[in-house]
Amino acid sequence: MTETPNNIAQAVQILRNGGLVAFPTETVYGLGADASNELAVTKVFQIKGRPADHPLIVHLANPHQLTDWALDVPENATKLAKAFWPGPLTIVLKKRPNVLACVTGGQDTVALRMPRHPIAIKLLEAFGKGLVAPSANRFTRISPTTASAVREEFGQALDWVLDGGACEVGLESTIVDLSGKQPVILRPGMISAKQISEVLGKPVATAYEEKITTRAPGMHHLHYAPVTNTHLIKSQDIPSMLSTLNEADLPIVCAVYSNVTFPSHKNVHWVKLPAQAKTYAHELYRTLRALDQQHYKSIWIEAVPEDAEWEAIRDRLNKATGKQSL
Ligand code: TXA
Ligand code: MG
Repeated sequence: MTETPNNIAQAVQILRNGGLVAFPTETVYGLGADASNELAVTKVFQIKGRPADHPLIVHLANPHQLTDWALDVPENATKLAKAFWPGPLTIVLKKRPNVLACVTGGQDTVALRMPRHPIAIKLLEAFGKGLVAPSANRFTRISPTTASAVREEFGQALDWVLDGGACEVGLESTIVDLSGKQPVILRPGMISAKQISEVLGKPVATAYEEKITTRAPGMHHLHYAPVTNTHLIKSQDIPSMLSTLNEADLPIVCAVYSNVTFPSHKNVHWVKLPAQAKTYAHELYRTLRALDQQHYKSIWIEAVPEDAEWEAIRDRLNKATGKQSL
């Protein structure tokens, strides 16, 4: 999908007038609004049904705009921006006094990211200022990875939806907090802790492993969840699960990534997910959304490998099934 320069210009006009424009990023679709317009930002919270203390990420067209938002830009931030921007990394820094409290949830820090989807870059360049862009879904629902998923979430409530096709990455950005003494990863993403620590030249702490969950309020229990009851299950436990099902429990669907074959069962449907972490991430939300619409009694997802490259996926699967993050 390509959007014409005229469509981008119209979207910019809507944003300048305080309207809301959903746009594609390489991670998931964002619900964009002028980050310096309090009324516009308030509308974002209202339409998402998001609690006011859940801060938003400010999206930038280039790293030079960091100084418009951050009080100072530490060397670590420059290093990470150089290595990963444009791309799926969000950096939390101490905020400048002019940053609206509604953007930061009243905290003294602000989250910043430069996305790499060509339409997001064109939009941000033409707009010329920062855009808040939370994932374009209602609070606690699955993030949208296509323009049609955004329309399903919000119907006519949005002023404009820019269509950039299916998002390349498919999971939300990695969030690293550089506002304290030590860098801390607040949300795992497809840029791993290892990649970040290699660039910084030192190990980084991870808030989700050490249960320092208060810093990123969006990281609470039961996030990104389908409406249908959704469970994680180890591959070897699938046969015994199937053998205990009653008629009333059916139909169900099992989403598996491994190649093992399972006993066939009436009213048990199978969906194959990719066996590679990168392509699995790309498919996950789209698959969950599709399965959620098919009136299954429950969705069963095969637990994924324990390797580092599956970390962000494990985090989102735990949230989709109501388990605490890692
Ligand atoms: O990939 C992404 O980051 C997508 C695309 C659209 O850019 N956006 C996204 O935004 O996931 P959202 O609003 O769904 O998630 C933002 C996360 C929340 O968990 C929030 O708590 C955290 O960022 N966050 C924002 N500002 C923060 C801050 N100042 N300190 C700590 N966490 C912050
Ligand atoms: Mg979100």
